[in-house]
Amino acid sequence: MWLTARQMLYNPRMDNAFTDRNVLITGGLGFIGSNLARRLVTLGARVTLVDSLIPAYGGNLFNVQEIAGQVKINISDVRDVHSLRYLVRDQDYLFNLAGQTSHMDSMTDPYTDLEINCRAQLSILETCRHYNPAVRIVFASTRQIYGRPDYLPVDEQHPVRPVDVNGINKMAGEWYHVLYNNVYGLRACALRLTNTYGPRMRVKDARQTFLGIWIRRLVEGQPFEVWGGAQLRDFTYVDDAVDAFLLAAASDNAAGGVFNLGDRQPISLRALADLLIEVNGGGEYVVREFPAGRKSIDIGDYYSDPRRICAALNWEPKIGLREGLRRSVAYYRAHLNQYV
Ligand SMILES: NC(=O)c1ccc[n+]([C@@H]2O[C@H](COP(=O)([O-])OP(=O)(O)OC[C@H]3O[C@@H](n4cnc5c(N)ncnc54)[C@H](O)[C@@H]3O)[C@@H](O)[C@H]2O)c1
Repeated sequence: MWLTARQMLYNPRMDNAFTDRNVLITGGLGFIGSNLARRLVTLGARVTLVDSLIPAYGGNLFNVQEIAGQVKINISDVRDVHSLRYLVRDQDYLFNLAGQTSHMDSMTDPYTDLEINCRAQLSILETCRHYNPAVRIVFASTRQIYGRPDYLPVDEQHPVRPVDVNGINKMAGEWYHVLYNNVYGLRACALRLTNTYGPRMRVKDARQTFLGIWIRRLVEGQPFEVWGGAQLRDFTYVDDAVDAFLLAAASDNAAGGVFNLGDRQPISLRALADLLIEVNGGGEYVVREFPAGRKSIDIGDYYSDPRRICAALNWEPKIGLREGLRRSVAYYRAHLNQYV
């Protein structure tokens, strides 16, 4: 039973949409994928996670330790079309989150980014077209595809003009999903995520998000580095991102759409650093010039206009930045050894 956005208004847990349904999450051992898996388990879905566990990425078996007996875990690579063919069969939903997330890595090793974020996305869609055309797909896209904004807040009408290889490949991945929706009738849509944060993100380094390394340093009692500091950004707490993935999958209104996630209240990186220290009850940071390699691919100020998803899917972020940071710091205080 598919739900309209209006029906979901009265059924916010969306139980009917996922109970006893087969759900595949690519990148399911990663930050957002594992949080999504945990929620889907509570909704009664039969969840399969596929993840390559490449060490430089955010996959971590500890992320699913509490639900390990309730999900199937398939350690394989989405570049392998043979395993994909087997994995997509009989799935009702595909949350497609496997990705190379580092902007710098995409510049130093552009071909790997191309293979995972672009080519593999096309082959996932081809596999669905041939072996499971009824599956409903939500793709994890990124605000990075907009590049340096012409205006703020950035809505979905804003030109798409990526400033790095990762942005170009994610853009192609997103457009393949929309194309396959429009041409082949696969029901696919994309969420353009802004900085997403929370428990289970990678904190070992800044490959996934600078906030990860900030929190690691803070919990270790070390100063963290703020590059620049005046840039404006918006943030989504991971549980709110999970809500958006579920709404997008369950709603008939979403097919073929692209939707910004984000927060209407941007914050400068320096103010964010101050808030993090306040939430932690202490700590230090140092402000540094942007390293040259980073500066050339930085997008300056960015914050999203999420009105489209709010109106179409009835999504609203529920966790404010202060509370989200508090939960994140508490998580890494308890579990940092599993992430470094
Ligand atoms: N976290 C954010 O702020 C953010 C922002 C914009 C977009 N996104 C997108 O959301 C998705 C999830 O990101 P995340 O933050 O959870 O990162 P993550 O690194 O924690 O998750 C990605 C997962 O994909 C897996 N993976 C990578 N390549 C794979 C491959 N070839 N085969 C199988 N698995 C593979 C990784 O092992 C990892 O577990 C990504 O596609 C990312 O581009 C995230």
